[in-house]
Amino acid sequence: MTRARFLKMVAAAGSGAAIAYVLYELAPWMDGESPAAKSRQVLRTDREGLPLMEELVRYATLAASGHNAQPWRFLVSENQIEIHPDFSRRLPAVDPEDRELWISLGCALENLSLAARKAGMEPEIDYPTKTDFIRIRLRPRQPNENPLAEAIRTRQNTRNEYDGRSIVSTERHKLMSIPLEPGISLRQFDGTSETEKLLEYITAGDKIQFSDQAFVDELVEWIRFDKREALATLDGLYSRCMGSPPVPRWLGKRVVHGTSAKTQSDSDARMLRSSAGAVAIASDTDSKDAWVRTGQVYERLALAMTAINVKSAFLNQPTEVPAIRHQFQDGMGFGSAIPQLLLRYGYSNPMPPSFRRSVDSVIDWS
Ligand SMILES: Cc1cc2nc3c(=O)[nH]c(=O)nc-3n(C[C@H](O)[C@H](O)[C@H](O)COP(=O)(O)O)c2cc1C
Repeated sequence: MTRARFLKMVAAAGSGAAIAYVLYELAPWMDGESPAAKSRQVLRTDREGLPLMEELVRYATLAASGHNAQPWRFLVSENQIEIHPDFSRRLPAVDPEDRELWISLGCALENLSLAARKAGMEPEIDYPTKTDFIRIRLRPRQPNENPLAEAIRTRQNTRNEYDGRSIVSTERHKLMSIPLEPGISLRQFDGTSETEKLLEYITAGDKIQFSDQAFVDELVEWIRFDKREALATLDGLYSRCMGSPPVPRWLGKRVVHGTSAKTQSDSDARMLRSSAGAVAIASDTDSKDAWVRTGQVYERLALAMTAINVKSAFLNQPTEVPAIRHQFQDGMGFGSAIPQLLLRYGYSNPMPPSFRRSVDSVIDWS
């Protein structure tokens, strides 16, 4: 065989593999039953006993979690569910104190409570003040139809550019008047000058995070760059949900490592400026209990937005970087309230839904 013929064969094999990769990545008929659709089926309130408990856990797992790490385990008995942290899924670089981990458990708690009420059970909650878990005792009550429970299947972090439309003040007022938890408050930002001020803190946060090798390495570890990776783990940040094309890991890694803080903050600025507004969730204290309650309020707010077709996405840099967090608190008029989360909201098209691990893999029976 001549050298030229050999090289031609290698090139043909290479393009064949590339075409097969793109076909697999983009072909929806090769997904089988999509795990996103499976985990998002309507709540089966006709079930009884432990199968109903499984349904409640499934709805809990549809909650938001940092990097979609799903850092939870559910210990289930007949009338009680405990939500335990799964510390093997912690994010030491972005969340060294497990603050966002406990917020994520609070998000799951809110979904579980709404689903329980829909199924005719009242949750009585013990917060993790002394313990390292959340206990939910379930007592019979009249089933409660609530649009927030309906919104659990479709709530998502919608990370695309919004259409710039504002939200009528009556709707906005309703959103900002959702019931809060003790010690938790909302701080609204709107108008050009507040948006631009917010961007200063977001930019400062990007600068620190994107020059921190451990932060970038951890982010890369949790990105699922293509469908094969996303289906293998059913967790993490699937590139499709963030509007990025599928690429093999070696290429995705290069792109993320090559992303400068300036590229990231330019993108964040475009996203925030396209939004109708932003809102921060703050708490009186920095404690496990307050973090769980913060998660409950975030999930409640995001579900209330989803129910009226308002999209939202986090821009948490000012609350994730300790040095910026203090400046953010002082500079944006939080007073003694400690900022925990920052999200933008507005109108846009939905993005593909993120995946969740199966209920079987997060449940323990007691
Ligand atoms: C405490 C917490 C912090 C988060 N921080 C960010 C963030 O800084 N940027 C971001 O884009 N998403 C952030 N997220 C969103 C998660 O990545 C998202 O919830 C997860 O990928 C699952 O997707 P879903 O919310 O669309 O269901 C955060 C979520 C939680 C609960």
